[in-house]
Amino acid sequence: MAAIEGFLVASLLLSCLASTSYGVTFSSLQKTLVVSESHQEGKVLKAGEDKITITWSYNNSFQAGTDSAYKTVKLKLCYAPISQQDRAWRKTEDNLEKDKTCQHNIVSRPYSRSNNNFTWTVERDVPTATYFIRAYAYNSADEEVAYGQNTDAQKTRNLFQVEAISGRRASLDIASVCFSAFSVASLFGFFFLGKAKSSQ
Ligand SMILES: *[C@@H]1O[C@H](CO)[C@@H](O)[C@H](O)[C@H]1NC(C)=O
Ligand SMILES: *[C@@H]1O[C@H](CO)[C@@H](O)[C@H](O)[C@H]1NC(C)=O
Repeated sequence: MAAIEGFLVASLLLSCLASTSYGVTFSSLQKTLVVSESHQEGKVLKAGEDKITITWSYNNSFQAGTDSAYKTVKLKLCYAPISQQDRAWRKTEDNLEKDKTCQHNIVSRPYSRSNNNFTWTVERDVPTATYFIRAYAYNSADEEVAYGQNTDAQKTRNLFQVEAISGRRASLDIASVCFSAFSVASLFGFFFLGKAKSSQ
């Protein structure tokens, strides 16, 4: 009995340790990926409509083999400092588990050194803000091991703006959702009415 309790306590402790000691910091990552983003010059991107093309590759000035543990690359849409001001829910934290800079996942791809590109239609739920793109490389344990971004360390260059779906389009969407809900409801209504009639 005591042995089992001891085991339970030990495994509880271990799992607590495991969850607190893990926490990769952004500052510990090497910037070994070269990332660029392109879209029509000077354009404010409309969520749900406009596209961006992202390219990424390994920076060959790092020693060969630095990337031997890289398994996947995830591209993320990240808030520029100007869109983080007074918004704690977008705050940058060095601990990547707490960091809220890059909240929108764009795509995840197996790691490959070169010729990577992805064309993304800015998703409908992306809010109006100024953004940049960051790519994280992950190891087989799904921990961040490196990164790259299409801007400088101060996040001032190559930023782009997204304009959210307008109120008008959003209300149209809501109307169509309500309409479909109504159709489904009336279908059921007719079904049960039919049932009721036939059982009389
Ligand atoms: C590649 O890495 C080197 C060393 O960190 C850096 O000086 C250089 O600017 C990087 N190249 C690109 C294209 O980012
Ligand atoms: C884009 O990706 C395709 C494969 O998905 C590759 O064949 C092509 O060379 C890439 N282009 C660039 C400019 O990296």
